Amino acid sequence: MVKQGRVNSLVILVLACFVAGRVAASSSYSVTDFGAKGDGVTDDTKAFLDTWNATCQSSVSSVLFIPAGKTFLLNPIVFHGPCKFYIRVQVDGDIIRPGKLWGGNFAHWLLFSHIDQLSIVGSGKIDGQGAAWWSCKTNHVSFSSSPLSCFCLRQSHVSAVSSSCFLHAFTSFGFFRSNAQPVPTAQVAGLRLISSPQMHLVVGFSSAVRITGLTITAPGDSLNTDGVHIEQSRDVVVSDSTIGTGDDCISIGTGSILVNVSRVTCGPGHGISIGSLGMANSLAQVSDIQVDHCNVFSTMNGGGYGYAKNIIFESINLTAVMNPIIIDQHYCANNVCAEQRSAVQVSDVRFIDVRGTSSSQVAINLNCSQNVACTGITFHNVEIQPAQRGGQASSYCFNAHGTVTGIAIPAVPCLMP
Ligand SMILES: *[C@@H]1O[C@H](CO)[C@@H](O)[C@H](O)[C@H]1NC(C)=O
Ligand SMILES: *[C@@H]1O[C@H](CO)[C@@H](O)[C@H](O)[C@H]1NC(C)=O
Ligand SMILES: *[C@@H]1O[C@H](CO)[C@@H](O)[C@H](O)[C@H]1NC(C)=O
Ligand SMILES: *[C@@H]1O[C@H](CO)[C@@H](O)[C@H](O)[C@H]1NC(C)=O
Repeated sequence: MVKQGRVNSLVILVLACFVAGRVAASSSYSVTDFGAKGDGVTDDTKAFLDTWNATCQSSVSSVLFIPAGKTFLLNPIVFHGPCKFYIRVQVDGDIIRPGKLWGGNFAHWLLFSHIDQLSIVGSGKIDGQGAAWWSCKTNHVSFSSSPLSCFCLRQSHVSAVSSSCFLHAFTSFGFFRSNAQPVPTAQVAGLRLISSPQMHLVVGFSSAVRITGLTITAPGDSLNTDGVHIEQSRDVVVSDSTIGTGDDCISIGTGSILVNVSRVTCGPGHGISIGSLGMANSLAQVSDIQVDHCNVFSTMNGGGYGYAKNIIFESINLTAVMNPIIIDQHYCANNVCAEQRSAVQVSDVRFIDVRGTSSSQVAINLNCSQNVACTGITFHNVEIQPAQRGGQASSYCFNAHGTVTGIAIPAVPCLMP
């Protein structure tokens, strides 16, 4: 959950939708055939775009191949669909971002947009080189007058913050308006996302997305580097992954429905958050948002509209995690916390077999809104011990309803029926 600047996050790394395995790819396009050098120094952005164009326009299902043993330097890219057939992006080589700060209206680094049949697989490392951004944020540097890194939200989209500029870093990897066919899931095997400027992987406005086998790593003191953020999406499964960053392991924002997080290890870093709201108390026209507009997600976060429901967290390991379980309907960014009249409605959230240690005293925090209660919050076999010897782990609820079965440590007596 991000404090300042969350707003601008969109995306990050890896993901996989799927139809893999079902369709034998009949055609392969390697980025090196389109001029990519992969020497870690040359800008390979154009070569990747050209390769994407060829792959996307292919008249058979195809593979975009990123070969092993090389490191490709990429500036922000939108891999835009729709494409004609199923595409597999085979990431065997590594990808890095230039380590500098960027200007421009980019909310993302590698964005997959409007693609219906896609899988992204491989064992490559995707390095967001976010250190320069973290340092800016940590030092509260304001860029409001500098075109280099100021990020301005456009009036037509967020009236309440029309002329504000926000320090903006980029999320690494994102999916936007992409929908996989509801067919057997492919795997993202072993993809490694590291050091994103902001969130590592964001799924927004998408459905039928399967994320698996990821390792996501960023330093514990890197701000806003959530592992996986899901918003305005339906039917998303995150499984068999290990996530340790400076912010939330998994965060779920408004408009999320049917999310299943299973067999994930979180920590060190923050825990699982739901309903963390963005900044302004405004809602933009959803239908009108385009990828290249400043900030897709912030416009959706406004002060709490929408819902997050039917969410399952199962078999989660926590290692010295701060705020391991948090539902926060009072979230405010940029220190603007107006009294909220509305809130994201959180319902039917199940925590099953969640075990590990908390580095914060409050291990289970269900801080729902006065006006919109959280309902159907259930815990089954949840055991969270203090990370420090002699420490304490407690629970807190405000206007939260649900049930507890099996083990519950700490106990959650504040949960109302
Ligand atoms: C990719 O194709 C689109 C549509 O044909 C074109 O507008 C764009 O310039 C192409 N991009 C590159 C990098 O060739
Ligand atoms: C959640 O996803 C996991 C991993 O794919 C799966 O094993 C489990 O059955 C799913 N749970 C539900 C309730 O769909
Ligand atoms: C969680 O921890 C248990 C016990 O340490 C281990 O057996 C299990 O494999 C871990 N699960 C994950 C998803 O890492
Ligand atoms: C719950 O939210 C209220 C309102 O923002 C805040 O003052 C309080 O500290 C929160 N409680 C916890 C335990 O997070």
